[in-house]
Amino acid sequence: MGKDDSNGSGKISEVDEFTSALDVGAEHKLIASSQAMKDVLQLAIRVADFDCNVCLFGETGVGKEMLARFIHQRSSRRNGPFVVINCGAIPETLFEAELFGYEKGAFTGAREGGKAGLLEIADRGIAFLDEVSEIPANMQVKVLRVLEDREVMRVGGTSRRTIDVRFIFAANKNLKELSDKGEFRKDLFYRIDSVLIRIPPLRERKTGILDGLDYYVDYYNKKYGLKKALSRDARDILLNYSWPGNMRQLSHAVEKLLITSDSEIISPADLPAYIHLNHIPAEDIEAKTAIRPLQEAVQDLERKILSRGLEVYGSTHKLAKVLGVSQPTIVRKMRKLGITRKYHRWD
Ligand SMILES: Nc1ncnc2c1ncn2[C@@H]1O[C@H](COP(=O)(O)OP(=O)(O)OP(=O)(O)O)[C@@H](O)[C@H]1O
Ligand SMILES: [Mg+2]
Repeated sequence: MGKDDSNGSGKISEVDEFTSALDVGAEHKLIASSQAMKDVLQLAIRVADFDCNVCLFGETGVGKEMLARFIHQRSSRRNGPFVVINCGAIPETLFEAELFGYEKGAFTGAREGGKAGLLEIADRGIAFLDEVSEIPANMQVKVLRVLEDREVMRVGGTSRRTIDVRFIFAANKNLKELSDKGEFRKDLFYRIDSVLIRIPPLRERKTGILDGLDYYVDYYNKKYGLKKALSRDARDILLNYSWPGNMRQLSHAVEKLLITSDSEIISPADLPAYIHLNHIPAEDIEAKTAIRPLQEAVQDLERKILSRGLEVYGSTHKLAKVLGVSQPTIVRKMRKLGITRKYHRWD
């Protein structure tokens, strides 16, 4: 039934239509037009339907929170709360009270009447646990208990309250590695590691960079009443920059460029030095044309064309048309060349 049978799902056509930014109820729209992000959304749509916990893994600024909001919107809990709990931002001493709440008089400075914890507030909705690797060591066991029993007890309390919460975890550190090294509880890791979605970094999805530039230039032009644009050369340089802070960094970089540049057209000279200095080096032509077994060289080239083509055109159908072959040929070649999409692994 699906028009693209590369992964056997009839829903891919839905994702194929995500050519513009999506409103996920955050300040910014979610840009997801690259093939890599469509694959991520495809998986997110599939898991959103199931009331299971999900873990989102990816570098800082790739859009984990935005994706979590997207899953919330698509889930049966869409009318319930979406509560963000940033485990890295809560001081260790307040962690338990923040998550579990407290009864009146639990400690000096405790609010009269006590206070509900964030997990209680998330009842019938989704708790988004950001930066799970930062959960203090002595709290990890308490979080594990909640995941197992779905019960919370306020600090200073005596009775347990049942909560109906779905969890979405986010990690920008590799939890598997941390747990192998003994820096994160193994039992908690196994609990968190049920359904994993890995969001690839921005530098691996060039269309994401281009669409991000368009979106944020437009956004900040409107916000500040400007009419600036990026020159072609400036765009090329930004396209090849490595963006270690991903879309968040891109957004801030564009804002700054628009505000500080003198002219209406932003040229390479306007770009900050760190962008000029941190170009991903262009591919070495020598290496590409070195004398080596022809079959290997041809396969290498095919792999590059297919990977890049998928990134640019976003579907095997469109790519097949452009390359003048059938869609099943594309799928077969992808398989043969080992072009897989690793969105559910920790590497
Ligand atoms: N796909 C996207 N489309 C548009 N903007 C994005 C996208 N991904 C990230 N951003 C921008 O980056 C900002 C940070 O995104 P988000 O908070 O979802 O990242 P994160 O992965 O949770 O990062 P961290 O690990 O640092 O918490 C957003 O506010 C938004 O401005
Ligand atoms: Mg985040």
